[in-house]
Parts: sequence; C-alpha cells; structure tokens
Amino acid sequence: MTETLPGAAIPNPTDEAAITAAVDQAIAAIAGAGSLDELKAVRLAHTGEKSPLSLANREIGGLPKDQKAVAGKLMGSSRGRVNKALADRTAELEAQNDARILLEETVDVTAAPRRRRAGARHPLSTLQDRVADIFVGMGWEIAEGPEVESEWFNFDALNFKPDHPAREMQDTFFVEPPEAHLLMRTHTSPVQVRSMLEREAPIYVLCPGKVFRTDELDATHTPVFHQFEGLAIDKHLSMADLRGTLEHFARQMFGDEAQIRLRPNYFPFTEPSAELDIWHPGAKGGPRWIEWGGCGMVNPNVLRAAGIDPDIYSGFAFGMGIERTLMFRNEVGDMRDMIEGDVRFSEHFGMEI
Ligand code: DAH
Repeated sequence: MTETLPGAAIPNPTDEAAITAAVDQAIAAIAGAGSLDELKAVRLAHTGEKSPLSLANREIGGLPKDQKAVAGKLMGSSRGRVNKALADRTAELEAQNDARILLEETVDVTAAPRRRRAGARHPLSTLQDRVADIFVGMGWEIAEGPEVESEWFNFDALNFKPDHPAREMQDTFFVEPPEAHLLMRTHTSPVQVRSMLEREAPIYVLCPGKVFRTDELDATHTPVFHQFEGLAIDKHLSMADLRGTLEHFARQMFGDEAQIRLRPNYFPFTEPSAELDIWHPGAKGGPRWIEWGGCGMVNPNVLRAAGIDPDIYSGFAFGMGIERTLMFRNEVGDMRDMIEGDVRFSEHFGMEI
C-alpha cells in the first residue's frame, strides 16, 4: 500500500513520465489490495485530496494557457485509469466476499437435527390427572392425606376390629416404635375419614395418592403403588348414585361403550360392599370384563367414627389402583416398567395430559 508522505514532491501535471509513474503506483497498490478494507485505504492514498494525482490536478489551474489543455487531457485519462482499476478491483473483491459468505454460511437443509430430549411426564401422573379431571368436572374436590398414617385412620376408624381378620388382608409396613401406632398407609381409604372430620357435609372428594404394602416386586405387584379413593356424603345417597357415578366415570375413561358391573363383596368400611368390574371395549384380545376396584355404601360405623350422623347422612365410596388401571387401559404387561424410570417407557405415551 502506498501512502503519500507529507512534503512529497507534487508531480508536474505536464510531466507524462511522472504522472504515469504515479498511475502505475496507484494501479499496483489497487491490485495488491487483498480486501475491501485495504482497497479503501488505497483509494484514499491514491485518489484522495492529498494524493499525488489530486495535487497534480490542482496545479493545472496555475499553468500557462497553452499547457492547460495538454495537462488536462493527461490528468483526465490518468485519473480515469486509476478509477477504472478501483472499480474493477472493488467488483472483484465484492464477488470474492460474496462467494466466501455463501460457502461459510451454507446451511445443509438435509442434515438431521440434533435430537433434544425433552423428557416426558410419567404415564401414572397423567392418568392420575385424568381421573382427577373427570371428578373435578363433576364438581368434586381433591383431598389429600399423609403417607405415614396413624393406625387408627388406616384401620380402626374404617371399622377394622382389632382382631378382625380383614386387617390381614393388607400386609402392612409398621413404623417403629410400635407404641406410636404409625404405619405406611395401605390404602387411600383413611383419607375418607380425614375428609369427613375436616369438612362439612355434603362432601364429594377424590383422594389420589401413594400406598404401601409388603409385597415383593414382580410383574403384577409392587410394594409402593397408587390408588384413588372416592367419597360422597350427602342426604339420601343410595347405591344408584354410586352406580351412576361409576358408570359416568368408566365411560369417560374407556369410551361410551364401557359398562360396569357390581358383584357382592366384603369390606369392613362399606355395607353393602361390591367388587367393581368394567366392560372394557378396547381390551387386548377383545372386549371383556375386568376387575377394577372396590366400592359400597359407607358403613354407619365409619360415619359415626368421623362424627357424621348416619340417620341424616349416607354416603358411598370406591377405591381403585392407578397402576392396575394403566395396565389394562394401556396394555402395560409388566408393572416393573412403570417404576424403573426409563424415559423410553414414558415417551411411548407421548405428552398425553
Ligand atoms: N381400600 C380398598 C383396598 O385398598 C379399596 C376399596 C374398597 C375402597 C371398597 C373403597 C371401598 O372406598 O368402598 O383394597
């Protein structure tokens, strides 16, 4: 790059050799500019106000008349050559620039995107939410109780007598020391009693939650699982209300063709009690009856334990397992898949809510 030194001699605009030398110098500098920025500096040095050619051009005015025309012609063509070289080099460098950008910023639209794993809600959670939504849609409330429960709520208040064999129905994890009479709740039914003590009748609550039993983990058992419990307390409630509620629930869960069936059974906290079966239209291997849970009319002893007058109020209750529901609703063959925490299991259910 050539710069004009201060005080450098101003070429004579009539001196063709000197002017040609300045032009050659300018053209060499232009050719040597490797970038548009460099070219800008070259342009300033060789065509700017203080460049030899501009200064020489200014001298024309002071020349004797007869030399003006010659000098004007010489300067005009000289500056024209430099300007043309500048324009050509600019176009060249711009084209190079565009080619480089095209290459550097190329986007391969056929490239596979990097996979971002967003995780997925666990199907037990989404199923639990779905159940809750159906009952909230009917105006019911969600109730909760503790997982470490007192023996009284889990058994006594639910009409399990101290030596009643029904206590053996549920294999219990007791919490030490035994005098504290604490246990890991074996079902969500104790939330029935808590709800009745905490709320004023009428009561319509759904209680989803974790429960614990001393079962070995295998394809159909897990020591920690989930249930949901329903409880309705009002005046004049009958078995027909229980049936209608469960039927609506079953259809919301399994489609309009779903049906329910009640078979007599025994639970200490309901009288009469029934086993609830569902006619599952989409069951694997064709529609069939599937055992779903227990239900019945709340035993008057339970109402009394919870401070509710059985002569004024009656109630119905039901309880089902969420894992079991997921198994036959979504054809999960092995319960262990639900607790291993492998995201591939959850992803398979999509982001269903
Ligand atoms: N708690 C019972 C169990 O875990 C299920 C059950 C049966 C709940 C009958 C109820 C009911 O509310 O009425 O096996």
